[in-house]
Amino acid sequence: MHDAHGRRIDYVRLSVTDRCNLRCSYCMAEDMQFVPRRELLTFEEIEKLARHLVRRGVKRIRLTGGEPLVRKGIVDLIARLTKLRQRGLEEVTLTTNGTRLPELAGDLAKAGVRRINVSLDTLDPAGFARLTRRDEFARVLAGIEAVREAGLAIRINTVAMRGLNERELPALLAWCGERGFDLALIEAMPLGEVSIDRQSTHLPLAEVRAALERDFTLIPSAHRTGGPARYFDIAETGTRIGFITPLSDNFCSGCNRIRIAATGTVYGCLGHDQKVELRDIIRTGGPDGLDQALDRLLAGKPLRHEFDITRRAPALARHMSATGG
Ligand code: GTP
Ligand code: 5AD
Ligand code: SF4
Repeated sequence: MHDAHGRRIDYVRLSVTDRCNLRCSYCMAEDMQFVPRRELLTFEEIEKLARHLVRRGVKRIRLTGGEPLVRKGIVDLIARLTKLRQRGLEEVTLTTNGTRLPELAGDLAKAGVRRINVSLDTLDPAGFARLTRRDEFARVLAGIEAVREAGLAIRINTVAMRGLNERELPALLAWCGERGFDLALIEAMPLGEVSIDRQSTHLPLAEVRAALERDFTLIPSAHRTGGPARYFDIAETGTRIGFITPLSDNFCSGCNRIRIAATGTVYGCLGHDQKVELRDIIRTGGPDGLDQALDRLLAGKPLRHEFDITRRAPALARHMSATGG
């Protein structure tokens, strides 16, 4: 698949639920209206859609949420999706908050997951409770340990915020390095109303990079994961750090992705409302209907997001948790 700007689209972010057992204050409001469960795609429908997307050249599928691992039976879905490798899919992976990994890490490995991104914004238990508004820190750490024991590669995702976790970032990088984890730092994007002040907490990552270079030697890396992170090898640890800079250094020209919400709504861009609805087509239509809708999406896929931190209002009413980023 290609969009109208000539970009190859072979990566799909697939949200399996908009629900989450945490309330990260940069992502969600405390009170969220979740989609009624009957409006979600069933696993059969997701599998049918994924099969179709793989026929159209999709190489990677990343499951997201909300929190993907709170959806019941999720490991079975993953096992079904990893079977599509026989049809050309190269990777099935997920981004998770880690809270359910203590019980699921081994099953995920058995289901064919090889690497995983785990969100963790602080190593301070009290800071974690403040930021996520839930007391699940110990579980996340145990989950990360379980994934390591299961032999999966781990990247820690950290949203970097001025005055919140800014000063902890060198320690977090050292912690990752000691354990063999890559780290991705992320600039918070203005999606949905949240309690956090996004303007005063905005932290351009070039600044963080300069601070980290006092303790670590960062060497531009050839490493690519197909996502927006730009990686550096760290001489001291043998691990990598990636910078995801939607606000300070736009990466949209290399965009290779579309994102599917748990209801079957497909968005062309994280920063726009341009979309097509696939659920009814999956339920009642055939492959031609899916192709037509996908082609319509690709034809209108925006060139780039227009996130602008100088504006107070969020760019979109839609929260991050509706599409999983
Ligand atoms: P890898 O496959 O490991 O490269 O993962 P990824 O970085 O593509 O995905 P992940 O779910 O770990 O997301 C990390 C951050 O990147 C999150 O904040 C996402 O919202 C953000 N992100 C992922 N894709 C896009 C995108 O297309 N546009 C923007 N603006 N942000 C994105
Ligand atoms: N901006 C940037 N990243 C965000 N995430 C959640 N909300 C935001 C936001 N507003 C991150 C999570 C997770 C990934 C899917 O997106 O921390 O690592
Ligand atoms: Fe949940 Fe992830 Fe949003 Fe945090 S960032 S509230 S873990 S969906």
